[in-house]
Amino acid sequence: MSKRLKVFLGLAILICFAMFFWAVKSYSSSAWQTWQTKYFEAQIAVLQENMTKVQGEEEAEQIKQKIKEWQEKKPTVQEIRLSNGNIERCTTCHLGIEEISKSHPSDMGCTVCHGGNALSLDEKTAHEGMYGGGHSGQLDVTRLSCGGGSSAVGQCHSGNKHEIDNQVDLMSTSLMASKGGELSMTRYMYGLDIPPQILLKPGETATNVEVPFNHRAEEMKFQETCLSACHQTEGKLPGLEVQSNGCESCHVLSNSEHTYEGRDVTISQEKLGYGMEHKLTVQIPYTQCNQCHNQGEYELYTMDFTPRPDLDRVNSSPSPDKESLETRWQNVYSPGLVFTKCEVNLDCIDCHTRKEVMGDGEMHVSEWKALKIQCQDCHGTTDSKPQEWTITDRSDIAWAEARINPDFPSLEMGDVILKTLKGEELPYVRLENGQWFSYRKTNGEKFLIPQVIGSKCLQDPDKQSSDDCHKCHDVSKDKPSSGGNK
Ligand code: HEC
Ligand code: HEC
Ligand code: HEC
Ligand code: HEC
Ligand code: HEC
Ligand code: HEC
Ligand code: HEC
Repeated sequence: MSKRLKVFLGLAILICFAMFFWAVKSYSSSAWQTWQTKYFEAQIAVLQENMTKVQGEEEAEQIKQKIKEWQEKKPTVQEIRLSNGNIERCTTCHLGIEEISKSHPSDMGCTVCHGGNALSLDEKTAHEGMYGGGHSGQLDVTRLSCGGGSSAVGQCHSGNKHEIDNQVDLMSTSLMASKGGELSMTRYMYGLDIPPQILLKPGETATNVEVPFNHRAEEMKFQETCLSACHQTEGKLPGLEVQSNGCESCHVLSNSEHTYEGRDVTISQEKLGYGMEHKLTVQIPYTQCNQCHNQGEYELYTMDFTPRPDLDRVNSSPSPDKESLETRWQNVYSPGLVFTKCEVNLDCIDCHTRKEVMGDGEMHVSEWKALKIQCQDCHGTTDSKPQEWTITDRSDIAWAEARINPDFPSLEMGDVILKTLKGEELPYVRLENGQWFSYRKTNGEKFLIPQVIGSKCLQDPDKQSSDDCHKCHDVSKDKPSSGGNK
């Protein structure tokens, strides 16, 4: 044999051995180790990306050191020890997943919200029995997940002494969950219930009523255009192949495709149906509400739905932090709708109260019956001022609410907040030195609320619906002036 051939054969044998060992190793390394390795690689990739942007030597050295640390890391089983002593291992695969919120710290574990088998290191068994197939905000499982009915920590958002703490139970009475308003008002328009009636019990949805139009011709159209085309029944979000999922549809912010952008590598960033991050929030921007609202116009008499002509605006609305007033002005409402300045400058949740949005325990027949907020709550009328409410007690709901949102100014005993005429407190609307201010819930921005009393407003104090105001106060065609806020 020639020397060259010997070297070649030697090398070939070595390569064969190397491949054999690699094959054995990857066969014996389990899925969770592979996920962890992928996670380490993802961290290294981020650091290498940062490396291309560094300025000084020192910084480069620090990053190099960090890369080295990740390269040397070995996969290990991860355990979360809960306050009751139980152990959970979900993060062995879901390494790096975001802490869902400050009020739900990591040591709460995962199964309290998700169910599943806490100790399993196998994907299939770990996920067995997971609530809502991974979407624990789905309304049919929220009593177990958000309600805390099955957990060691006890009652959470259901079954408490004060109704106000039972969001899970209240939500089952919300029109948004049941679509009861849609059902009642269409039946009323077709002469089936005069006056309008509510056919649903808490927790039921419009799909529970099998023949909403008593076998009339409209039946199919109502099912198709209204119920199936939308959400929280069995439907998908408009224009998207993803379902909205109960509490998540407001409290977990999503991008227009509903793809995940966070750090957990087990979740594919291409797959649809996730929030942007593993994060719950009460700071809900209008873009989240508009994943269902302001999509177009419906016509109750013909039961037709016409999508707004600029629907791509809704679907491609920039994330709230990147939004300018200019784009906001065009994105919020369908072209042709009238609105005042504050209806577009503020977010929906700056006016629409928690009871309106999450239900108040009553089954209402229509949106108008469910609504709590009125223009005069903030602006008063020509002969009345907004209603004051002084904080004197820590058990006041406002006390808790003001603490959940990090962007509310701190609330002290003796502070004066606003109470709507229908009796709901708005802890982010404050009376300070004789003037009313509204703090935007998503970022804490402060707005002075102009008052009608003492102004040149020409309103009739007995005509207080938004339609009445819009006759004179319609800025839908105006471009925003510089900033617009005070
Ligand atoms: C062996 C690894 C592994 C373990 C252990 C594991 N998971 Fe997962 N999990 C995955 C993978 C991989 C996915 C992505 C599945 C997919 O894309 O189809 C996933 C997806 C999920 C999802 C999203 C479901 C969806 O709709 O895609 C949730 C929620 C979840 N896991 C929760 C848990 C919880 C809670 C535990 C512990 C009880 C757990 N996982 C344990 C690997 C694991
Ligand atoms: C307070 C309740 C809560 C806790 C605690 C919680 N999750 Fe979640 N998790 C949710 C909700 C709600 C979603 C659905 C978000 C959505 O719309 O995609 C979710 C989604 C997920 C997903 C899918 C990816 C995503 O972000 O959408 C995974 C994976 C997951 N959770 C794993 C875990 C693991 C692992 C733990 C424990 C470390 C955990 N969760 C703790 C409520 C919780
Ligand atoms: C998953 C879809 C969906 C999302 C997300 C959504 N809504 Fe709704 N909303 C509806 C539907 C459907 C109705 C009408 C129900 C009916 O009349 O039967 C409605 C009705 C309302 C009403 C009038 C009735 C009532 O209950 O007061 C208000 C106010 C409202 N939504 C505000 C909001 C706000 C604010 C947000 C964001 C925080 C939001 N919505 C997010 C679907 C949604
Ligand atoms: C249609 C949108 C929407 C849905 C769906 C929704 N919420 Fe809310 N939630 C809100 C808004 C708006 C607030 C008030 C935020 C604020 O006042 O700062 C809120 C506040 C909360 C709070 C803070 C305490 C309080 O009551 O003010 C909790 C807890 C909560 N929601 C739980 C839930 C649960 C559990 C579900 C599902 C059963 C749910 N929410 C469904 C919009 C929604
Ligand atoms: C400046 C306060 C304000 C803002 C911001 C606001 N609304 Fe309203 N909204 C009201 C008032 C007040 C009413 C009741 C109308 C009346 O009094 O005639 C109402 C009525 C409604 C109704 C029921 C009747 C109808 O016109 O369809 C829905 C649904 C609704 N708003 C959703 C939203 C959504 C979604 C957003 C965010 C894109 C939003 N609102 C932003 C004050 C506001
Ligand atoms: C939560 C309190 C709140 C509610 C409810 C509310 N507004 Fe306002 N309004 C404000 C604030 C704050 C401003 C000033 C901020 C701005 O310029 O957008 C304002 C400004 C205005 C102005 C003066 C705009 C200008 O051009 O300077 C008018 C007119 C007005 N609102 C009408 C209405 C009407 C009509 C409704 C009912 C649909 C309403 N408001 C509901 C808080 C509210
Ligand atoms: C007939 C027309 C008309 C109607 C209806 C009307 N307004 Fe006015 N409003 C005015 C005029 C004119 C002014 C003074 C504008 C100015 O000073 O530049 C005004 C001023 C105001 C201001 C003070 C704005 C500021 O910057 O100081 C508020 C707030 C306001 N209106 C709210 C309302 C509300 C809420 C309604 C519905 C209940 C309403 N208006 C109905 C004509 C009307």
